[in-house]
Amino acid sequence: MATIAIIGAGNVGSQVARVAVRTGHDVVLANSRGGEGLDALIDELGPRARAAGSVADATERADVVVVAVPIHSYEGLPSKAFDGRIVIDTGNYYPSWNGDIAELDDESTTTAEILQRALPGASVVKALNNLNAAELTTTGSPAGTENRRALAMAGDDTNAKRVVQELLDSFGFDVVDVGPLSEGWRFQRDLPAYGIRHTAAEMRSALARALRYRDLPDA
Ligand SMILES: NC(=O)c1ccc[n+]([C@@H]2O[C@H](COP(=O)([O-])OP(=O)(O)OC[C@H]3O[C@@H](n4cnc5c(N)ncnc54)[C@H](OP(=O)(O)O)[C@@H]3O)[C@@H](O)[C@H]2O)c1
Repeated sequence: MATIAIIGAGNVGSQVARVAVRTGHDVVLANSRGGEGLDALIDELGPRARAAGSVADATERADVVVVAVPIHSYEGLPSKAFDGRIVIDTGNYYPSWNGDIAELDDESTTTAEILQRALPGASVVKALNNLNAAELTTTGSPAGTENRRALAMAGDDTNAKRVVQELLDSFGFDVVDVGPLSEGWRFQRDLPAYGIRHTAAEMRSALARALRYRDLPDA
């Protein structure tokens, strides 16, 4: 059982909190307003949840930090507050929402590498980005369940990936390790590993079929 700091309490953050509390973890939630507006969600989540007064307050004693804010907010996060932490990047790039980001447009980097650059003292693992937030609480199942849903994960730190794998397993999902952070593009928006319910074998196949956006037939 872990203490999970969740930065961002919107679609993804609130759903991570629900599945985490349901599976026996403690959660601390932060938003951009010092915790204002989180009362109803904290009430719903019960005694395992609390609102933080700041991002640094949330991360202080966290075993894992889930970053669930728009990727255009990454550069503004208080970097020091993440030093030594295992951080999950849930981010996806939608130019219509995030604005144009040249290094993602030309595919020279990935969202998680941008977060890792913004938080140099953290160990970033990309995960939880490739399913609809609502499905976090509806598509998990116990380990060993036939056709259990699998999620993908990428990261450079083996120990951080082990911790994240155990956490996602406790949430109800098998995990497929895609390799280093630079391979995180394989389960980004619009690709076969994104948004579709896959078993571990299906996920591996979908990841292997991934093409860069520039190589897609309609690019
Ligand atoms: N929606 C999905 O189904 C889904 C699924 C997987 C991944 N994702 C990805 O997950 C990320 C979050 O998406 P979302 O749909 O959850 O967004 P959202 O509903 O708009 O929620 C964003 C949250 O981030 C908080 N926030 C923004 N800037 C912040 C900052 N500097 N410090 C602290 N908190 C900050 C906001 O706080 P305030 O309310 O105070 O502004 C809000 O709670 C995106 O990259 C998205 O692409 C989304």
